[in-house]
Amino acid sequence: MRISIVFAFIIAVVFFACGGGQSADGTKNASVKNGADQNQVDQLKIGRKAFKRFCVACHGADGKLGINGAKDFAQSDLNLEERIEVITNGRGMMTPFKGILKPEQIKAAAEYTIHLGKQTEE
Ligand code: HEC
Repeated sequence: MRISIVFAFIIAVVFFACGGGQSADGTKNASVKNGADQNQVDQLKIGRKAFKRFCVACHGADGKLGINGAKDFAQSDLNLEERIEVITNGRGMMTPFKGILKPEQIKAAAEYTIHLGKQTEE
């Protein structure tokens, strides 16, 4: 009994320590002074992080992989709202990310897919 409490405590500490690194996406950290440009950069960073972790498996690092019928982002004509909708609620073979990612992370990931699409067009 006692051992399991200690064990739970260790797990809690480890979880907390790992979770700490994730909090870089906290809106509180984004300084108001930084202005729109810096915010945009922060958004892309959050989006890239979420994308690398959750989306690359199907979409590929450049958004062109197309596993399970995933669309090349450069060919996508969905706007930001529509992308947020697809990422939040899923579509076809794509899993919904509601509950896995925070709404801010979903928005950032959606913006990142637009960014990827633009890059590959050139
Ligand atoms: C299990 C594989 C899989 C994962 C993981 C996945 N996707 Fe998808 N995604 C798909 C597939 C398949 C489609 C095409 C859905 C359809 O229209 O049937 C798609 C479609 C999309 C679209 C719409 C593109 C368009 O123009 O139709 C966006 C945007 C998108 N995914 C973003 C993401 C983001 C961001 C993530 C990570 C948070 C992600 N996806 C993770 C498989 C995946």
